[in-house]
Amino acid sequence: MKAVCWRGRASVEVETVPDPRILNPRDVILRVTSTAICGSDLHLYDNFIPTMMKGDILGHEFMGEVVEAGPEVRNVKTGDRVLVPFHISCGRCFSCSNQQWSLCDNTNPNAKLVEKIAGYSGAGIFGYSHLYGGYAGGQAEYVRVPMADVGALKVPESLTDEQALFLTDIFPTGYMAADNCEIRPGDTVAVWGAGPVGLFAAKSAWLLGAGRVIVIDSVAGRLRKAERDCKAETIDRREKDVLNTLDEMTAGRGPDSCIDAVGLEAHGATVVDHVLDRGMQMVGMQSDRPPVLRETILACRKGGVVSIPGVYGGLVDKFPIGSAFAKALTLKMGQTHVHRYLRPLLARVEKGEIDPSFVISHRLRLADAPSAYRNFRDRKDEYIKCVLKP
Ligand SMILES: NC(=O)c1ccc[n+]([C@@H]2O[C@H](COP(=O)([O-])OP(=O)(O)OC[C@H]3O[C@@H](n4cnc5c(N)ncnc54)[C@H](O)[C@@H]3O)[C@@H](O)[C@H]2O)c1
Ligand SMILES: [Zn+2]
Ligand SMILES: [Zn+2]
Repeated sequence: MKAVCWRGRASVEVETVPDPRILNPRDVILRVTSTAICGSDLHLYDNFIPTMMKGDILGHEFMGEVVEAGPEVRNVKTGDRVLVPFHISCGRCFSCSNQQWSLCDNTNPNAKLVEKIAGYSGAGIFGYSHLYGGYAGGQAEYVRVPMADVGALKVPESLTDEQALFLTDIFPTGYMAADNCEIRPGDTVAVWGAGPVGLFAAKSAWLLGAGRVIVIDSVAGRLRKAERDCKAETIDRREKDVLNTLDEMTAGRGPDSCIDAVGLEAHGATVVDHVLDRGMQMVGMQSDRPPVLRETILACRKGGVVSIPGVYGGLVDKFPIGSAFAKALTLKMGQTHVHRYLRPLLARVEKGEIDPSFVISHRLRLADAPSAYRNFRDRKDEYIKCVLKP
């Protein structure tokens, strides 16, 4: 079969690789009908996540048709069109039982590697390095889905692939980011990053009762999309000082909650900041770039919530813990517990409360993956979300 394989920094190729096979009774094999490129894939593309190996198959946002099912899979059958959360969860361990699905205790065979960095390991993730289990991803014609009896969900006939696909990751991720903000009716929610996750966070903030949503970025096309499709006010950080502007917009109190939908590849507030953070990252003095993390903490009102869906992998410099402490902030973060949100959000899509396909900017073939990765990373042609049809 054909699959999108990682070749090294800023290099992916579509290669012929062996077809996947059922290995365990809880596996299914999917023929992938739609798959997407995520901002998290850019962290692999830009080589910020260690333990990638040449030839690794990428992709953790995918859906497709079941072509083979192991004997213990009874929730879906051959011929069903299903979607699959980006992390693999066993449904039986302590974390899964606590609805903390992305922290599953059983699905990362390389947990020992993460334990060295983090103390304990979360779930394995499709196509996301050997640190997260070394599972083949779904930017491919076929993919093996372990624990499909827990993860695979049949998609109702009434929905197109494009309406369902983002339930695998970015819609629940934006929604959990807003849910973590503990929004009270009328709250002001500020979102850094007008990428797919930021846009879904903005939409979700409205669904959860926000009174005002402000989105911050520097990519004009993405800010326009936040205004048009997410009814957000926007701040272009190339034109305005973000902290002062937010302070003015909230009459000197600060947003009730701040969402970091950018993560470890954030651009600095000033050129000097950016060069300093990049330099420290290049010489290994910090692994992640934290300007957005700093800004969310400084901007947030006293007693507010900072919610961090953006991915961080290691250490950062000048983390304003004093500000977070002085203002008694609540910080919430982590990989999304997709299984927790999957069915409620599917119901919202079915009821027409939201059509997740609004985020799509490009529809391409699997063979177009190399240029799609490059253009998405470079924010070319207003690349916002790219769907590949294998
Ligand atoms: N927690 C999870 O489970 C989960 C799931 C999916 C994605 N993510 C993460 O969420 C983040 C966003 O994903 P995405 O797909 O939207 O990515 P993306 O790369 O498309 O979007 C990131 C946006 O941040 C903007 N940005 C950069 N620096 C900024 C700054 N200083 N201030 C404001 N905006 C800035 C960029 O211009 C870009 O528009 C990534 O870190 C991704 O890895 C996390
Ligand atoms: Zn993702
Ligand atoms: Zn589990």
